[in-house]
Amino acid sequence: MTAALSSVGPPDRETSAARDRIPFSDADFQTIADLAMRDFGLHLTTAKRDLVYSRLLKRLRNLGLETFRDYCALLTGPQGEAERTAMLSALTTNVTHFFREDHHFKLLREVALPPLIKSAREGGRIRTWSAGCSAGQEPYSLAFTVLGLCPEAGKLNLRILATDVDSEILAKAEAGNYPEEERKAIPEAMRRFIEPAQNGFTIGGAARDLITFGKLNLIENWPIAGPFQVIFCRNVAIYFDKPTQSRLWARFGELLAPEGHLCIGHSERVAGPAELMFRTVGVTAYQRLAGAKTASSPPSAATALSNFPNRLEGHEK
Ligand SMILES: C[S@@+](CC[C@H](N)C(=O)[O-])C[C@H]1O[C@@H](n2cnc3c(N)ncnc32)[C@H](O)[C@@H]1O
Repeated sequence: MTAALSSVGPPDRETSAARDRIPFSDADFQTIADLAMRDFGLHLTTAKRDLVYSRLLKRLRNLGLETFRDYCALLTGPQGEAERTAMLSALTTNVTHFFREDHHFKLLREVALPPLIKSAREGGRIRTWSAGCSAGQEPYSLAFTVLGLCPEAGKLNLRILATDVDSEILAKAEAGNYPEEERKAIPEAMRRFIEPAQNGFTIGGAARDLITFGKLNLIENWPIAGPFQVIFCRNVAIYFDKPTQSRLWARFGELLAPEGHLCIGHSERVAGPAELMFRTVGVTAYQRLAGAKTASSPPSAATALSNFPNRLEGHEK
């Protein structure tokens, strides 16, 4: 299934020893796999059983639980929602860095952004979205790229929405503080948008001001006002099964403006009915066809996204 999930090595010795002590039944695994699919679209095949065990053993320890049965009871109980997100965090990776897959930023700089900035300067509304933004390096790289072309972007109707399902990682993104070693991934010309801080650097106000952060689960309802001219959703759909991925591409297609750009992760491909909505314009980069038909699908059953409506007001400001 996922490059990210399978990148983890075999369980360590301590985990193997613990395996003898803490039983992990088929029913436990199935409960976890069903919840991961239901809540996050996370596709856990039985091939991932050892990985699920070793990753979640750490959660059991942190929570002081002695059996996976107790852990499943917690997940399915009234207090389970927060732990289900912690479980997702434990099972997936938040790996990201500034200007990751730089070809997408080149595409932005050279092709996508110049006409959008022209339009914004003439009063147009421009919206971009980093969906699955992890610790924030992706939306900040977007903001730096915008500011590099348009230093006055903050005065225009140009906003970047940055969302993730994991509130903890989202808080890090919003804080915008990074260790010194991450500086080298930021091109020199863009370093004027960061400022020195204790043990590293922090994101400067011009870039921060362009971004609205919000919690959003991509497999649920999206209380978001489109259209977007650019959507980045990179290295997130790898966690989903094929039907969930297909639905996601189609939903992005519906939310994109005609000729809007969609950039996805290096091991992902737009597939399914949405293929008819896009043309390929680069490596894992797509453009929505101007005349593409959308198959307006009804929103999926939504659970409460408690803080998102307020965030959206920010997004629209
Ligand atoms: C590997 S990071 C990718 C970060 C960034 N997009 C990049 O490519 O560098 C994957 C992110 O997807 C988020 N994620 C996983 N499932 C999600 C879901 N159902 N809805 C929204 N975000 C999700 C995770 O919390 C994580 O922060």
